[in-house]
Amino acid sequence: MATEERKELTRARGRRQRRPEHLLERRAKPPIVELRRATKIYPGGYVALERASLRIDRGEFVFLVGPTGCGKSTLIKLLIRELEPTEGEVLIAGRDIATLPERQIPYLRRRIGTVFQDFKLLPSRTVYDNVAYALQVIGASRSEIRAKVPDALRLVGLADKLRNLPDELSGGEQQRLAIARAFVNHPPLLLADEPTGNLDPATSVGIMQLLYRINRTGTTVFVVTHDREMVDKMRRRVIALDDGRVVRDQAAGYYTDDESTSEFAARVRDEMGIER
Ligand SMILES: Nc1ncnc2c1ncn2[C@@H]1O[C@H](COP(=O)(O)OP(=O)(O)O)[C@@H](O)[C@H]1O
Ligand SMILES: [Mg+2]
Repeated sequence: MATEERKELTRARGRRQRRPEHLLERRAKPPIVELRRATKIYPGGYVALERASLRIDRGEFVFLVGPTGCGKSTLIKLLIRELEPTEGEVLIAGRDIATLPERQIPYLRRRIGTVFQDFKLLPSRTVYDNVAYALQVIGASRSEIRAKVPDALRLVGLADKLRNLPDELSGGEQQRLAIARAFVNHPPLLLADEPTGNLDPATSVGIMQLLYRINRTGTTVFVVTHDREMVDKMRRRVIALDDGRVVRDQAAGYYTDDESTSEFAARVRDEMGIER
């Protein structure tokens, strides 16, 4: 605490008052996700993310959008320390994760559920075992596993497929299974990198509804997507990246705003040699 603040506190106590408002605010919970001017340069010199800053509060539902190659997956990988920023900081629940000792990384990842476009299921394990495995690796007891796995599978609508193998499921069901596995431990943060990228539109709606339902249990949900229609329908917060930079951050936003739409259209016209 800075000297000035300490003095102020002492004065306030002296006056038998409660703490001044601004000191209380400082004690509020930090954002669950924070990037401070995070830059990622890949070996070879490619700048995938450039001074990206953003804050996501607990309980939010946020879309991350932007053209292919703009750095979305890179940003997601920074949050689970699969990559480290070249410059800047990545904070999870107020902690700069670059300062975490190696042995604490599993604890970080235990508190962050992740879902990917290609599901990443264990092909030779049953539906039940795919979810149980996520708990086994973090040392959960048998009774805990027996209690939690059926709950997670019920939540995603797969309670009647416990004994099936992943390749006996449809694409949408496989993604539901991946979500059950990511959520079985009720993490405070769930990251999804293009979770509907391989699914047809009707199936995608169900997956987004499921993520939304998970958000309403209190879990913060951060979703990378190319699904314009879904983003425009759901009207949640939208963060847009372009060329590694955060170019828009909008509450109740759309997939594109008018300005970027026209910029994009202009760029396409330029590339195709069509006169403006
Ligand atoms: N391991 C890597 N080494 C070098 N360049 C990479 C690597 N991973 C991604 N890139 C490049 O960084 C840019 C951003 O990639 P990525 O974050 O995957 O974009 P997005 O998910 O938005 O499509 C792309 O141009 C990609 O080719
Ligand atoms: Mg990607």
